[in-house]
Amino acid sequence: MADLGTSAEHGIDLTNKDMPLDYYMVDQNWDQFTSEEHGTWGLLYERMRNMLPGYACKEYLKGLDDLDISKDEIPDFRRMSERLKSLTGWEVVAVPGMIPDKPFFKMLANRQFPSGDFIRPRASMDYIKEPDVFHDGFGHVPLLSNPVFADYMQAYGEAGQKAMDHKCVNRLLRLYWFTVEFGLIQTDEGIRIYGAGILSSSTESKFALKDDSPNRLKFDVERIMRTKYKYDDLQQTYFVIDSFEQLFKDTAEADFTPLYEGLLQKPQFEAAEITADDVVLHKGTGAYAKEKAAQEKLKQAQEGADA
Ligand code: PHE
Ligand code: FE
Repeated sequence: MADLGTSAEHGIDLTNKDMPLDYYMVDQNWDQFTSEEHGTWGLLYERMRNMLPGYACKEYLKGLDDLDISKDEIPDFRRMSERLKSLTGWEVVAVPGMIPDKPFFKMLANRQFPSGDFIRPRASMDYIKEPDVFHDGFGHVPLLSNPVFADYMQAYGEAGQKAMDHKCVNRLLRLYWFTVEFGLIQTDEGIRIYGAGILSSSTESKFALKDDSPNRLKFDVERIMRTKYKYDDLQQTYFVIDSFEQLFKDTAEADFTPLYEGLLQKPQFEAAEITADDVVLHKGTGAYAKEKAAQEKLKQAQEGADA
């Protein structure tokens, strides 16, 4: 989503913001993955798969099965796309890293999901900055097999242009962040996860669902668009949708023009803040963020003393 530098390996300059879409696409080169890389996938897969029941929503789990995503190997996008196309008309295309907003929106509008072509190194099993094939293929792709979510994602891509016209792209990206990446959903069995940023991390899956630290609030589009977030740490607030139908109704079927007008003038909310209008499902203790801030302070004091 954000623009990063050049992908040296592919000779693609990712600071080019508005090239034809195939400029950003690469061959997944599936045959070139080493057995160690397939093994990395397997380790990540196994760690997550066992904890998913009771954590992930059923639509996601169904997708994982229907698309035949297995622990044995990194998915071959050619095969995965064939299945996905027959279910919802989506395909998976390989990209060398995070691509700029404009082509990102356009690909989604075309029902093409851009996915990292590489897998994280063994040394960074828990956290990487750039989305790799595990985050994208395991985290995102399964839910694209759900018809309602599939339509939401396409409509989201189409929404890019209007947001750009209103200089509200970052606000629209917050909607992606709090739904596609970090969304929770209410079910008869309790709250479950559908966000890929959560589902590709065992730590965040436990944290998002079971920990007392973060807030869990009912989904609200304008509230989300006014909310700042941490992009490199566990979230302090998660938003909970009632259903994918509700998500679609409140976004794809709503006209964002009146919302965008005046949005940039309205006050913003901090990541951990709760407002009078929120429907609070769980009020976070903030314990994790406090502990983290205390550690940070200690570190700085030590660095000061060392200097
Ligand atoms: N309906 C929104 C608009 O009028 C567009 C949108 C669709 C936004 C789907 C998000 C998701 O701009
Ligand atoms: Fe993602």
